[in-house]
Amino acid sequence: MTALAPSRTLVVAAASRHGGTCEIADRLAWTLENDLPLGWRVIRPDLTDLQVLDDADAVVLGSAIYYGRWMRAAARALAYLKDAPLFDLWLFSTGPVSDVESENAQIISADSMVEAGQAIEHKVFGGRLDTSRLSWVERTVVKAVHAIPGDHRDWDEVDEWAHHIAQKLSVVPGTDGTTDISGQDAVR
Ligand SMILES: Cc1cc2nc3c(=O)[nH]c(=O)nc-3n(C[C@H](O)[C@H](O)[C@H](O)COP(=O)(O)O)c2cc1C
Repeated sequence: MTALAPSRTLVVAAASRHGGTCEIADRLAWTLENDLPLGWRVIRPDLTDLQVLDDADAVVLGSAIYYGRWMRAAARALAYLKDAPLFDLWLFSTGPVSDVESENAQIISADSMVEAGQAIEHKVFGGRLDTSRLSWVERTVVKAVHAIPGDHRDWDEVDEWAHHIAQKLSVVPGTDGTTDISGQDAVR
């Protein structure tokens, strides 16, 4: 029997300055790759070429938060996706969230995409503040805003979210209503 090529593509991409958010995206991609039924492929590109999003059936897009905003590469990708045809879109942010409302502008705008039906969910994960990796300017800023150094990422929470996404993607609408494609018919 000839193995069928994967017919659906999930893109997992993220913007990161010091690597902590990339590691979350790597973990999400790995868990999703293991969880998703046959017929799906998971790709984990960087955000330099946004055309990679054109062929995606589903996207998980994330960013570290700096100065209350998503990083430029992720914000560009988000804007690009706003013009794309509707598909399954999940968003995530990392960073110990500031309690200053105005500093959370981008998180709020990501949430408004969820409200508008463009994204399914926006998840906020704890981030990693490793002061040994920071520039002098960054260390000064972090001190000024009283951010708490350390690794605040919760890998169980990351895995749980990946399982949740995989579950949603495993069910596709069929002609007779809902169809589960997690069976053995398709070949990865
Ligand atoms: C200079 C600086 C500014 C930051 N600003 C914010 C912020 O406004 N809100 C927030 O929740 N986290 C903020 N953080 C925390 C980062 O989002 C967090 O450390 C994140 O996990 C870093 O991800 P990365 O390792 O992928 O770059 C800031 C960190 C630094 C160093």
